[in-house]
Amino acid sequence: MSVFLTAVNTLRTTCILSVKTESPTVKTFTLKDKLCAKAKPGQFLMLWIPGVDEIPLSIMNAGDSQASVAVKAVGEATRRLHEAKSGEILGVRGPFGNSFTESCGRVLMVGGGTGTAPLLFLAKKLAAKAERLSFVIGAKTKNELLFLGELDAVCTEQSTIATTEDGSYGIQCLATEPLEKLLGREKFDMIYACGPEPMIRKVFDLAEKRRIALEASLERLMRCGIGLCGSCVIGKYRVCRDGPVFNAAQLSEVKDELGISKLGFDGNRIPL
Ligand SMILES: Cc1cc2nc3c(=O)[nH]c(=O)nc-3n(C[C@H](O)[C@H](O)[C@H](O)COP(=O)(O)OP(=O)(O)OC[C@H]3O[C@@H](n4cnc5c(N)ncnc54)[C@H](O)[C@@H]3O)c2cc1C
Ligand code: FES
Repeated sequence: MSVFLTAVNTLRTTCILSVKTESPTVKTFTLKDKLCAKAKPGQFLMLWIPGVDEIPLSIMNAGDSQASVAVKAVGEATRRLHEAKSGEILGVRGPFGNSFTESCGRVLMVGGGTGTAPLLFLAKKLAAKAERLSFVIGAKTKNELLFLGELDAVCTEQSTIATTEDGSYGIQCLATEPLEKLLGREKFDMIYACGPEPMIRKVFDLAEKRRIALEASLERLMRCGIGLCGSCVIGKYRVCRDGPVFNAAQLSEVKDELGISKLGFDGNRIPL
């Protein structure tokens, strides 16, 4: 194990600097941590909530000795975290995993749910470099559309398309529907995707059909975060060590599982 991995893998105490409510189910937590403050878009940290669990979270902002994560309350650990206030002490390891490459061409980002958070981090880095920056963002309902204002500020003028499943905002459909039309009328050099895996699968199929470069960030159950336990496998890859960002060629190698199934907590395969 390299000296650097030993350092990032050491459990450190961290203090919550601020908490921001983004939607009825999502809050952004800013944490003090010098190592995670050096993270690149795509990387994740492991946050230890004392007495509950340690969970993987994508870093959505980093710098100035701080890192932020946007957390959706879905279960025991995330619900306990949502009760936490500024000043509370937690444990942190990381940053772990690889990061998105930074394309300077015509870029399209596709985000679903909290998957929008790491893409916003990337979009801020690319805003000054990319030839064009467009975003398709999807959610079940208006309340769950995250970071719309921030995305409008960084994307090329009028190039954010919002979709909701219930039609309460933007176009009533899944995020992948306008994507198909957009790819039919505009040329893109790179697609970045992060969100629910069935969404990523659809984006992968469209990018493969049109031969467009793609990088997607995957989620799997994670325990160790450093490639040892095997709980995060997809095909020949371990998402924590080889990802979480995978390119189209790698995604093609795991087509049998992508958007279809994953390992559950008991090690048995479960449908997605
Ligand atoms: C690389 C990566 C980045 C992630 N980034 C974010 C993020 O930025 N924001 C966010 O809200 N969530 C993110 N997640 C998912 C987050 O880790 C889970 O929602 C969290 O672990 C759930 O814990 P819980 O105890 O609240 O829920 P549980 O009661 O344990 O489970 C609720 C649901 O969450 C899923 N889940 C549980 N544990 C894990 C785990 N260790 N890894 C992945 N999924 C799990 C289960 O499939 C289940 O459906 C990320 C996951 C990964 C792998
Ligand atoms: S979480 Fe243990 S190998 Fe990936």
